[in-house]
Amino acid sequence: MQKLISKVTDNSNFYMENSPIDLIEKYGSPLYVYNEKILREKMRDMKNLVSYENFAVNYSAKANSSLAILEIANEEGLNIDAMSPGEMYAELKAGFSPDKIFYISNNVSKEEMQYAIDNNITLSVDSISQLEQFGQLNPGGKVAARFNGGIGAGHHEKVITAGKNTKFGIDPDEMELFNETLKKYNLTLVGINQHIGSLFMEPDKYIEGVYAILSIAKQFKDLEFIDLGGGFGIPYNKLEDTYKTLDIKALGNKLDEIFEEFTKEYGKRLKFKVEPGRYIAAECGVLLGTVHAIKNNGNNKYAGTDLGFNVLARPVMYDSHHDIEVYRKSDEKSEKIEPITVVGNICETGDIIAKNRMLPTLKEGDILAILDAGAYGHVMSSNYNNRLRPAEVLIRENREAVLIRKRDTLEDIMKNFISLK
Ligand code: LLP
Repeated sequence: MQKLISKVTDNSNFYMENSPIDLIEKYGSPLYVYNEKILREKMRDMKNLVSYENFAVNYSAKANSSLAILEIANEEGLNIDAMSPGEMYAELKAGFSPDKIFYISNNVSKEEMQYAIDNNITLSVDSISQLEQFGQLNPGGKVAARFNGGIGAGHHEKVITAGKNTKFGIDPDEMELFNETLKKYNLTLVGINQHIGSLFMEPDKYIEGVYAILSIAKQFKDLEFIDLGGGFGIPYNKLEDTYKTLDIKALGNKLDEIFEEFTKEYGKRLKFKVEPGRYIAAECGVLLGTVHAIKNNGNNKYAGTDLGFNVLARPVMYDSHHDIEVYRKSDEKSEKIEPITVVGNICETGDIIAKNRMLPTLKEGDILAILDAGAYGHVMSSNYNNRLRPAEVLIRENREAVLIRKRDTLEDIMKNFISLK
């Protein structure tokens, strides 16, 4: 096997003794591959973020909710958030006790709320209208609420979740009605939470957001916890020599300082939580795929692969950049580095994974590895064009690669249809 580009995964010893080509041959293409050691390291980074003792990391399961990943998060002693009954269900199956799960609900039905209530899972409401609904279902109960502190951040407007242009959070201007509603149903507000958005590389906005939520927190006397949200960024450009990482040490120190100052004033060392998804899961995952066609069209050269946006939606949805590494089975040399547009096999012109990327001259049969695909990768994949979602493989700490999710089958994509015949 020739490694035409492999710097990032070589540096992290990502595949250990496994070769990406063998993995594809064994489990099929495309294929998600995760590295357990890297995953656990990232979980520990977050657990050690601060020295303040009453602190919890809620892994944001939406980033990657594969059962094995959830089981590892549970083993590492993380707490976990959920965005739906489906995530709560998977988390309970993975062994999380209900007190470790936090359901951050958004515009949900009575049945969804009831599911959390029945399972003793703390739930956060996202509007006064939903607080009313909760009060009717569970008068006298405990509840949390998500506030919009006015500070938003993120890598794309679609993922900025606080500030003036988002559906999320309760506007602090509505505090009076909020308090009246709590009182009306005799509810106890046990926690408040926020999430300013996804993928910040400098701590400033996050810290600004923390101050904003703390000034809201001061208005409630009996809180048990304050959840500051996630959004911790990772570098997606590690093939460049000058890439920067998020300085989590500086961020942690600043948070410690803020926690000490706040709890002194508040009179209680209440619990602080953070909710990272991407930081924990992104870098432990690579998406492997195969080049099936090379062609020129107009002014562009294309590599046609099996990596359509049904498999990885991020580039199409947010114009996200993912680094690409390249492997070749034969000894045939690559002549030069040239711009090439890497596309998938979905019947849409927008099905582009990388535009005019500088890569070694590609050939049919080459294996591409899309890096940092462990978060918002498989979870956002679909059966569009009746394509099969890929298998997922975990390289264990003992170097062995194990299957943790099977590839869809043709039966899977037909199983819920009801024939008229
Ligand atoms: N907490 C809440 C309430 C959230 O809504 C999110 C993400 C997180 C935590 C975790 O954010 P993270 O630490 O992963 O940035 N699909 C997009 C990201 C959407 C994030 C939505 N909310 C992407 O691929 O970039």
